[in-house]
Amino acid sequence: MRIYLIRNQLNGGDLKMAPNLRGRSFLTLRDFTRQEIEFLLNMASDLKAKKRVRNLNPLLKGRNIALIFEKASTRTRCAFTVAAIDEGGHAEYLGKNDIHLGAKEDTKDTARVLGRMFDGIQFRGFEHSTVEELARYAGVPVWNGLTDEYHPTQILADMLTIREHLGDLRGKKLVFVGDARNNMGNSLMIGCAKLGLHYVGCAPESLLPAPERVEECKKIAEDSAAGGSIAMVTDPREAVRGADIIYTDVWYSMGEEEKASERRALLSPYQVNMSLFEATGKAGTLFMHCLPAYKGNEVTEDVFEHPRSIVFDEAENRLHTIKAVMVATIGDV
Ligand code: CP
Ligand code: NVA
Repeated sequence: MRIYLIRNQLNGGDLKMAPNLRGRSFLTLRDFTRQEIEFLLNMASDLKAKKRVRNLNPLLKGRNIALIFEKASTRTRCAFTVAAIDEGGHAEYLGKNDIHLGAKEDTKDTARVLGRMFDGIQFRGFEHSTVEELARYAGVPVWNGLTDEYHPTQILADMLTIREHLGDLRGKKLVFVGDARNNMGNSLMIGCAKLGLHYVGCAPESLLPAPERVEECKKIAEDSAAGGSIAMVTDPREAVRGADIIYTDVWYSMGEEEKASERRALLSPYQVNMSLFEATGKAGTLFMHCLPAYKGNEVTEDVFEHPRSIVFDEAENRLHTIKAVMVATIGDV
C-alpha cells in the first residue's frame, strides 16, 4: 500500500523488507514477529491519518467479511464493520442464533462454506480451539476478535495508544491489576514481551497465569530482543511502583458470570482507585482498560474519568488497528 511504503521509505526503511502478511490469519500475537507487529501499528497510524482527511483510496474494495459473534460486543463489532465500510468492503454480522455453527453444523464445515463466500472471517467466542479450527479449514484469513484465552486485536489498539501518548514502547512499565489469567492478561503479556515493555501481572496467587504461560512469555521477551521483561507480583502497591501504565479489566469475563461474588471477594484489594493510582510514585502514570468497565469493581469512577485515563483513545484505536489487520491480510497492498 502506497502510504505505508512511502512512510517506510521516508523512515529510511527498505521497501523489500516490509513484511508481507497477505493471507495470514490473526489468532494470537505469538504468531507474529516484533517487526510484523510494528508494521501493523505503523499501518494503523497511517490509516488513522488517512481517515482524518477522508482520503478516498479504498483498500478493501469488493471484499466481503464475515463477523461471527458467539459473545456480545460493542467495540470489536463496530470496529470491524466501520473499518470494512471505510475501505470499500462489506461486513456481514452473523450472531450465534443466525447461523448453524455450534448447533447443526460443525466448525470445519462452516469454515469451508464461509471461506467459499467471504474474503476474511472474524470470530468472537468461547473456545480458542474454535477460532483455530476455523483458520485451519476456511482457506481465507481468520481474525480472532476475542476468545476465552486471547484478545489480540485489543493489544494492537493498546500498543498504538501507548505509543501515541508515551512514544517509544520499549522500556515502559505496564502493570495489569486484576484477573491476570484472563484473555487480556494473557494477550498483554505476549504483546509486552514482543514489543519490549516491562509487564507486571498483579493478582492474588489463584488468579495469576499458569507458570508455563509466564515462562513462554519470558522466552518471547528474550527472543524478540526488545528489552522487555515479565514479572508476577501479588501485592498491588508494590506492583504499581514506577508504573507508566496501570491497566485493568473486568473481574469476571463473559461466560464467568456465576463467579461474580467469589471474584469480588478475591479482587477487592486490587481495585484501581485513586489511592492505588497515586501509589506509582511517578508523575504521569496512565490508566487503561479495554472496556466495557464495571465501575465500582475493578476501577472507581474518579480514576476512570481522570485526565490521565486514556480508555476512549484505546476504544477509537480498535478501529484503526483492526482496519490495518484486514488491509494487511486481504487488502490491496
Ligand atoms: N474491548 C472490547 O473488545 O470491547 P467489546 O466487547 O465491546 O467488543
Ligand atoms: N476479559 C473480558 C474482555 C472484554 C473485552 C471478557 O472476556 O469479557
